[in-house]
Amino acid sequence: MPLIVAIDGPSGSGKSSTSRGVAQRLGLRYVDTGAMYRAMSWWMLENDVDIDDAEAIADVCERPRIRLEIDPLDPRVFVDGRDVSAAIREDAVASAVSKVAAVPQVRTRLVRQQREIVSRCLADDVGVVMEGRDIGSVVLPDADLKVYLTADPQARAERRARERQSGGDASYDVSSAAANLADRDRRDTTRAASPLQAPDDAVHIDGTHLSLDDVIGEVVSHLARESQ
Ligand code: DC
Repeated sequence: MPLIVAIDGPSGSGKSSTSRGVAQRLGLRYVDTGAMYRAMSWWMLENDVDIDDAEAIADVCERPRIRLEIDPLDPRVFVDGRDVSAAIREDAVASAVSKVAAVPQVRTRLVRQQREIVSRCLADDVGVVMEGRDIGSVVLPDADLKVYLTADPQARAERRARERQSGGDASYDVSSAAANLADRDRRDTTRAASPLQAPDDAVHIDGTHLSLDDVIGEVVSHLARESQ
């Protein structure tokens, strides 16, 4: 049977790099569910939907056509045929996304789509690594392996600041990153609908003092043990 791996954790914990690395190493597909919530938020902003009006968001959230390309070497996200992979990383989307992701109807729609993606992978006989906040707890409770990846707040802020600076935003320092992450953590963990939480049966990995290769290696060795 193809492998299904769920990787959850807070922003800046290294989930995306780890998930892509595991998928590459094992020949699996890679699904970034955060990109789907960001794509939904991008569409809301484009269409002047009031981000503070949960009812308005719920009314229109079935409209955008969101499509992912799930090759771990070049993951992409499209909204109504337009490649928004870069646009969804901009500040306007980053500030809107936790409000959009808290709307239950948005979650219902995207969780349905996430499960459909996995079903198609399985039908093609290929496994998948899916990353997010509620993958092990809600989207794929029967995953072969659930990982909860954390890192201490300082390490996460440093990682996020490095990413933003290498993307050309020289003014984004560690203290901006720390404030931004703390705010997102608070919203992601306290929302009513599927808050970020570690599933009971998840393997916890603290990446604070580990290299990316080490974290990928840990996930791969847990998988090898599970499948023995
Ligand atoms: O992983 P990320 O930073 O790209 O996620 C963007 C936002 O989407 C973040 O605020 C949490 C939310 N999210 C979520 O609620 N559920 C998921 N499965 C993935 C992301």
